[in-house]
Amino acid sequence: MTEQAFTPPTSEWYQPDPALVAAANVPDYEAVYDRARQDPQAFWAKRAEELQWYQKWDQVLDASNKPFYKWFTGGKTNMALNALDRHVKTWRRNKLAIIWEGEPGDKLSLSYWQLWQEVNKFANVLRGMGVKKGDRVTIYMGRVPEIAIAMLACAKIGAPHSVVYGGFSEQALASRIEDAQSKVLITCDGAWLRGKIVPLKNTVDEAAQRSPVVETVIVVKRTGQDIHMEGGRDYWYHDLMALPIAKPRAETEIMDAEDPLFILYTSGTTGKPKGVLHTHGGYQVYTSTTLSWAFDIKEEDRWWCAADPGWITGHSYIVYAPLILGATSIIYEGAPTYPYPDRWWQLVAEYGVSILYTAPTAIRGLMRFGEAWPQRHDLSSLRLLGSVGEPINPEAWRWYHRVIGREQCPIIDTWWQTETGGFMITPLPSVGLKPGSATRPFPGIEVDIVDDDGAPVGVNEDGNLVIKGPWPSMIRTVYGDDERFLSQYWAKYQKQGWYLAGDTARRDEDGYLWVIGRNDDVLKVSGYRLGTAEVESGLVSHSAVAESAVIGVPDELRGNKIFAYCILVAGAEGSPALEAELKAHVRHEVGPIAVPAQIEFVDNLPKTRSGKIMRRVLKAQALGQPLGDLSTLED
Ligand code: WT7
Repeated sequence: MTEQAFTPPTSEWYQPDPALVAAANVPDYEAVYDRARQDPQAFWAKRAEELQWYQKWDQVLDASNKPFYKWFTGGKTNMALNALDRHVKTWRRNKLAIIWEGEPGDKLSLSYWQLWQEVNKFANVLRGMGVKKGDRVTIYMGRVPEIAIAMLACAKIGAPHSVVYGGFSEQALASRIEDAQSKVLITCDGAWLRGKIVPLKNTVDEAAQRSPVVETVIVVKRTGQDIHMEGGRDYWYHDLMALPIAKPRAETEIMDAEDPLFILYTSGTTGKPKGVLHTHGGYQVYTSTTLSWAFDIKEEDRWWCAADPGWITGHSYIVYAPLILGATSIIYEGAPTYPYPDRWWQLVAEYGVSILYTAPTAIRGLMRFGEAWPQRHDLSSLRLLGSVGEPINPEAWRWYHRVIGREQCPIIDTWWQTETGGFMITPLPSVGLKPGSATRPFPGIEVDIVDDDGAPVGVNEDGNLVIKGPWPSMIRTVYGDDERFLSQYWAKYQKQGWYLAGDTARRDEDGYLWVIGRNDDVLKVSGYRLGTAEVESGLVSHSAVAESAVIGVPDELRGNKIFAYCILVAGAEGSPALEAELKAHVRHEVGPIAVPAQIEFVDNLPKTRSGKIMRRVLKAQALGQPLGDLSTLED
């Protein structure tokens, strides 16, 4: 079951701009790709030498217990060493690390020196509250500078963070807190979104009731409305940061390269989210290399990754990689269209943004408002544009290229996943572009498209996307569940030892890669990743629903929209009122991103004889397509 709404063309070429290529950090993709392929370990060792280590590694890659690969073993480092500590000893102490803009228009900029001090203070606060190396800390915040400070402070003291996206509901938050067994939670009173307050702290209060493991809640004051503060459990961030223990100097914990840096939960094929584990060493090497080479980050750039820090895109490319590179990273709190559809373009002009990285769904959303909005602003500071999260349809690509990029900015379409930590398939500035293709694998990465037995498929044929060798920022395991790590990613091509991405892709006659979409029970809705099982369990947790099945249906704006089919319990009656109630229920149980566009009440669902729901049949029916092979259908 693929989720693709668009048929990609393969003939349209955009050749690289020679001036940009000549000045690029990596001017010759082919040469570097070949060098990396000849000796991947030497290649990655050279990249790692660009960073600081307390102690150099003994071994670049330890493959003695595949697929539990280890990178830079024996090496000692800390993310905070390379993202902050080393910069404040140089002229970069004076450079802006973060430029932040709040949705209501308030502003804050932090130099590397200031950010370092804030991180040190908060690291001391966390230590003062008893957080130790190895303790998991959950972060549930809006897009405020304190989310970066909190992440970096956790890294500094060696406490793995688990950031939960602020759009998730209390059930989703509670299950992630439980899974990580995290006693400390950092949040905000609220977040601004489209002029309204998202009441984050209310959600935290409910989640803390569901998961009593939470002992301490630290609250950043952002929106200022009255909130409940539980005595002995809840503390204001600003009160703690004013205590004498919050000194602006803090020791950085010396970590093994393979010590965990963070857990990030993502959707899989079952209802239970997977805690993807990333570590201090390899993740630093890979994210900083990919950002520097694909987006050609220069000292003078102003880099804006418009994702949420709560997703892997934000972890890797708002917070960590830009800071490792000593870049200036922009964070905007709110919605692209608030108060008007030119908010982003106004920000690009105001801050002189030189590289903008966003998702196809956002581009399509802004396209709807027409060209007049961007044309009111001077966007000439932009020199590269990026896309991530789902395949970019060629119409959106061309609009982005022409209207936003003045036909002068390459579109860097990056394919990757929470599990990969960084870009895997992406152009560099020296690679020619075709709208809708993420082009070629990053140097050091070998990918293929194969059939179910592992044989390569032909040119322009669909197959399973696999990654053929280990890479430094690869997922280390599913937190607390090695079995799931093995079965999810490695079981299918166990013999060959390949990583299964879960995407369908094809390769064209020029060797360009086209990722079509997921081929498992994972949906991409507005670039968000959701398991059909998560939405289904949200639905059946309502007392009127006996059983449900969820599918993704192509949608022009969101990539996919959710259709749900529900069998009701005896005595319950399907009605528009019940449909509305179920939508509200899913919003509350899972979160706004999981709300179905449409719910249909049915008497039965197509199932195999072994009782598995045949979602592809529902999908074909919804799209008015032939139902395909029904030989396994029970009824
Ligand atoms: C899935 C991973 C990695 C950052 C955000 C998403 C889809 C991602 C692209 C792209 C086509 C893409 C894939 C992938 N995807 N980028 N450029 N072209 N598809 O991370 O939430 O872990 O989702 O997003 O289906 O498997 P994620």
